Amino acid sequence: MQTKRLDTSPAAIALAATLIRRGELVAFPTETVYGLGGHALDEQAVQAIFTAKGRPASDPLIVHLADRRDLPHVAASIPPLAAQLAATFWPGPLTLIVPRHPQVPLAVTAGRETVAVRVPAHPVAQALLQAAEVPVAAPSANRFGHTSPTTADHVLADLNGRIAAVIDGGPTPIGIESTVLDCTTSPPTLLRPGGVSLETLTALIGPIEVHRSFKTDTEETQGLVSPGLLERHYAPDHELWLFSGRPEVARAHLRAEAEQALASGMRIGLLLPEEDLALMRDLPAEVESLGPTADPEAMARRLYAALRALDERKPDRMFARDFDDTGLGRALRDRLRRAATRVIVIDGAGL
Ligand code: TXA
Ligand code: MG
Repeated sequence: MQTKRLDTSPAAIALAATLIRRGELVAFPTETVYGLGGHALDEQAVQAIFTAKGRPASDPLIVHLADRRDLPHVAASIPPLAAQLAATFWPGPLTLIVPRHPQVPLAVTAGRETVAVRVPAHPVAQALLQAAEVPVAAPSANRFGHTSPTTADHVLADLNGRIAAVIDGGPTPIGIESTVLDCTTSPPTLLRPGGVSLETLTALIGPIEVHRSFKTDTEETQGLVSPGLLERHYAPDHELWLFSGRPEVARAHLRAEAEQALASGMRIGLLLPEEDLALMRDLPAEVESLGPTADPEAMARRLYAALRALDERKPDRMFARDFDDTGLGRALRDRLRRAATRVIVIDGAGL
């Protein structure tokens, strides 16, 4: 199969919508990352998504809608909280878990009686969903377990020849995935931190339970965080060591390990904010800057592209440090931890 690269003209969008309605797969930009879209109510199209990605059938997909008024087509009932959140944050980077409508195939939800739904804000995603006139199931458009795509080139690097088309709408503006919130539990449960911060959600709806795997050091998992507990995901092809702790301390540990790797003849890569790189200019390393830590939005936007760019230079080992877990920092920290082959948590007393 030849994968077509489409532009965002009305004719190209119309073609993409036709392909989706016919059961073919089309990758498209959303405000978070590129999605791999297929007709959500067509079981064969849904199966094809899992095959193209190499994704296990046990990992459910997000259903994308053009408008929140379409929610009753895919949800059996709408918890009042979900209605309130949809009214406030849709279109936008928030995915809500609600009871599954019987017309949504179980293949979409991996056998669950709940379904994940979101209304994306990106104008190209909006145009495609409106033209398709069907709900579109779309996971991130990467090979399973690999770094999520924020450009059409990233999509093609992973899926060229495996899908009908990709709509090239340029780099995605947020750069990390949507926040996933389960509205079928009481209180609701944060299943994945993302584009809408936990603080923003809590301010509107009150207490939210944080799923254990997404807790940060400052919460319940203190002292328990180890690579074994973290599902590896969003992963580059080469080794990535992540240093976690107060910035000065994490930086010092990272530098010492980087120097040791260099001394043993390794080629190293640094994935760090601008201010860290300024202190490490003397190290002979491949570098990718995330920009200043004062601008977490810009760091999120750059994260996956920087990770892919560094990975492509095939370093023996990459080094990164994680961030404050407030606001978007929580999502950045989560993605870095899942991408890492090794997480070194430094509590400060260790130095
Ligand atoms: O920003 C995004 O959400 C992107 C764009 C394309 O919309 N999509 C995305 O999809 O990141 P994906 O498939 O890579 O991640 C979906 C997440 C997975 O962690 C999945 O386990 C969870 O949502 N999920 C989906 N349905 C669920 C359900 N019924 N219950 C619990 N978790 C669910
Ligand atoms: Mg994904």
